[in-house]
Amino acid sequence: MSTAAKPTKVNIHNIQGDVLSGLPKKTQTFMFFKINNGKRFVTDLAKLAPLIKTVAQSLQDREAIDKHKKEKKPGLIKLVGANISLTSTGLQAVGLSGTAIANTSLTEPVFQAGAVSDAQNVLNDPLLPPDAPKNPGKPDWDPEFLDRVDGLLLVAGDSHKTVDEKIKEIRQVFPADPNHSSITIVKTIVGDVRPDPEGGHEHFGFLDGISNPLIAGFDKPVPGPEPIDASNTLTGYVNDGDWTKDGSFLVFRYLFQKVPEFNNFLQANALKKDPITSNDLDETAGSDLLGARLVGRWKSGAPVDITPFKDNLALANDKNRRNNFEFADEFRDNNKCPWASHIRRTNPRADVRQAPIAPRRIMRRGIAFGPEVTPEEKTSGTTQQGRGLLFACYQANITNAFQFIQKNWSNNPTFPFIGKDILPGFIPGVDPLIGQVKGPREMTGHDPLTANDPDQTPLSMETFILPRGGAYLFVPPIKLLRELNKHIPSS
Ligand code: HEM
Repeated sequence: MSTAAKPTKVNIHNIQGDVLSGLPKKTQTFMFFKINNGKRFVTDLAKLAPLIKTVAQSLQDREAIDKHKKEKKPGLIKLVGANISLTSTGLQAVGLSGTAIANTSLTEPVFQAGAVSDAQNVLNDPLLPPDAPKNPGKPDWDPEFLDRVDGLLLVAGDSHKTVDEKIKEIRQVFPADPNHSSITIVKTIVGDVRPDPEGGHEHFGFLDGISNPLIAGFDKPVPGPEPIDASNTLTGYVNDGDWTKDGSFLVFRYLFQKVPEFNNFLQANALKKDPITSNDLDETAGSDLLGARLVGRWKSGAPVDITPFKDNLALANDKNRRNNFEFADEFRDNNKCPWASHIRRTNPRADVRQAPIAPRRIMRRGIAFGPEVTPEEKTSGTTQQGRGLLFACYQANITNAFQFIQKNWSNNPTFPFIGKDILPGFIPGVDPLIGQVKGPREMTGHDPLTANDPDQTPLSMETFILPRGGAYLFVPPIKLLRELNKHIPSS
C-alpha cells in the first residue's frame, strides 16, 4: 500500500548524527558500558552533550568531503563524530522506568525486554545448551552481551588516530578508572571499512550501503522506493508531548561471517546453465550468478531485478538507477530475483501490496570488522579469524521494523504468501544470509531454469552468519542529553 509521505522539517540540531545523515567513517569504535552511578551519569551526560555530533554537523562533514573530492585533493580530511545511546537497563539505572516514561516511545515492550530476550525467544539465534556451565539456554553470544549492557558510545572517523583522540576527550568526562567514573566500558569492538578495492563491500564481497529509506523533507529525492515519513525513523512524532521527540532506536547485532565457507558453498552449488543462451556456465560465472541470486544484487551492487543474468557495472555505479526497481513485474514469479533473496526479503517493495511498508524500513549504518581472508583460510576453506558485520540500524519502533524484518520476513520460509492463488504449493524458503530457523535452512528459486517450479529441489544451505552479541538502544535527542534530569522523578 502506498500513501505519500508527509514532508517534515526535522530539527537537524537536535538529532544525533548517525541517525539521519550517518557519521562519515572509515573506522568506528563501539564501546558498550555499564552505569556505575545513575545520578552522576545524568550530570556527566550533560557535560558530554557538546561532544556529540548532530545531524547538522554530520551534513557539514559530508559537504567538506564532497568539496575535498571535487578538488581532487589527496588523502582524507580529518573527521570524527561521537554518538551515545542507552538500553532499557541504562534508562532504569538513571530512574527512567514505570510512570516516568508513560506515554512515550520508551515503553515499547521489545525495547524494554532487550536484545538478549528477543534473540532467545523470537529471533531464533543459536542457543547455548541447557546443561552449559554458564548461561544455559541463553543465546550463544560473547558473555559481555549476556551480562548487563546499559549503553553504547560510538565514535566514527577517518582514522584510528582521530577516533582515539576523540575517545581521549570523552575520557575526560568518563575516566577509565571505574572509581572515578559514572560508567565502566564492558566491551569494545572496532569496525573498519575494508581495504580497497573492497572498500564499501561487506566481507562476502557485495557492495553494501546502497539502499536506505529516504526521509520526506530531509533527503534529496533519488529514483527508487518512495520516501518515508520521518516518524518511521524518529521517535516522538506520533504522540504530542512525547519528550523523546527526535530520538531513535538503534539495533546493534554483532554478526560473524563465514567467508571461506560461503565462497566454497557458491562454488559447490554453482549454476550450470546460462538461462538466456542455455550455454554452459564456467564455475566462476555459475557461482557469481548463484551469489547474486542469494543476495538480490551482484557483488558490484547492480540489482538482479534490473539485470538478472549478467552483471552491469555502469548500472551498479549509477546512483539514479541502481535502486530504482520494485519487483513489480514479477510479483507472480521469481525468475529475475528469488523471493528468498536477502534484499527482496528485507525490503519486499511491491511484493507487500496490502500493508504499509514504511514502518518496516530501517536506516542501516553497519561497518565491517575483522581481517581479510588469509591464504591459509582460503586453502583450508575454514574460517580461522573472526570477521563480519557490526550491523546497526535505526528506526522509530523495533517491533515494527528490525524485529519484524528478521522474524516475519527473513526467518519465515512461507513469506511472501504466494501459494494459494499464484503458485500452489510453492515455498520461497528463508533469507540465505540472515534467515534463522530451527529446521532445515532451505530456499527455492535459486536456479532461474526452475525458479517457479513447485517441485524443484530446494537449495539446502549452511549457516553463513552467526550472531555473537547484540543490544537494543535508545538514541536520545541532543536536548534530552542536556536535560535528562528534568524527566527523572525525584524519589
Ligand atoms: C552479516 C550480515 C549481513 C550482510 C552480509 C548483509 C548484506 C547486505 C547486502 C550486500 C545488501 C545489498 C546492498 C544494499 O542494498 O545496501 C543488503 C541490503 C539490506 N540488508 Fe543486509 N546484510 C546483513 C544483515 C542484515 C540484517 C541483520 C538486516 C535486518 C534484519 C538486513 C537488512 C537489509 C536491508 C533492509 C537491506 C536493503 C534492502 C533494500 O532496500 O533493497 N541486513 N544487505
